Amino acid sequence: MMLKTPILIVNFKTYSHSTGENALKLAKICDEIAKKTGKSIAVAVLPEDINTISKQISIPVLAQHVDGIEYGSHTGHVLPESIKNHGAVGSLLNHSEDQYRFRDLKKATMRMKETGMISVICAASPRMSKKVAMLNPEFVAVELSELIGGDVSVSTAKPKIISKTVKIVKRKSPNTVVLCGAGVNSFDDVKKALELGAQGVLVASAIVKSENPKKVIEEMVGAF
Ligand code: G3P
Repeated sequence: MMLKTPILIVNFKTYSHSTGENALKLAKICDEIAKKTGKSIAVAVLPEDINTISKQISIPVLAQHVDGIEYGSHTGHVLPESIKNHGAVGSLLNHSEDQYRFRDLKKATMRMKETGMISVICAASPRMSKKVAMLNPEFVAVELSELIGGDVSVSTAKPKIISKTVKIVKRKSPNTVVLCGAGVNSFDDVKKALELGAQGVLVASAIVKSENPKKVIEEMVGAF
């Protein structure tokens, strides 16, 4: 399975606005907009929210984390088969708020392939993007940690990071889709990211913390 691009992935993180019942509400808003506009939207939610959400919406649901483990004695880990059984089609991996040792990332990506799920590997720099592209994930998302949660987007502050990442990733893994994220707030941020070669965006706070997430999402996917 592959996700349609250009894509908006909404990372729900652990905000109170987007966990538990609020996660379901926000996921339903994303679902309605995707249905109404035909644009590609996916949500990345906590493992405990995957089941409820995936049963009630039809857009793709991703986990925010998964471990490179198999069934067995791995207390407290997130098992790929488990998120899949609950309805996830893939997972974010190596987010800058949740970084893996490279060998763990490699194992987790391999397990995602074995279980037929999509890996969206985050990278905090073009250099890291090059390294993770060698794992041939379906997606690489470049996100500069210093811009995360702010109101200046990577496409405005560091546009070259996006074009450089696209070039580097495509050279190593031509079928990998490049996304960007961090501080993405508006239609213009998304439009610029696409012009720079990204095939979508990974967004959290501008949507999750907005008083009117519907308006923000509609505006962002309007750039697709
Ligand atoms: O994964 C999305 C992300 O880290 C960007 O966060 O709040 O800057 O959109 P934000």
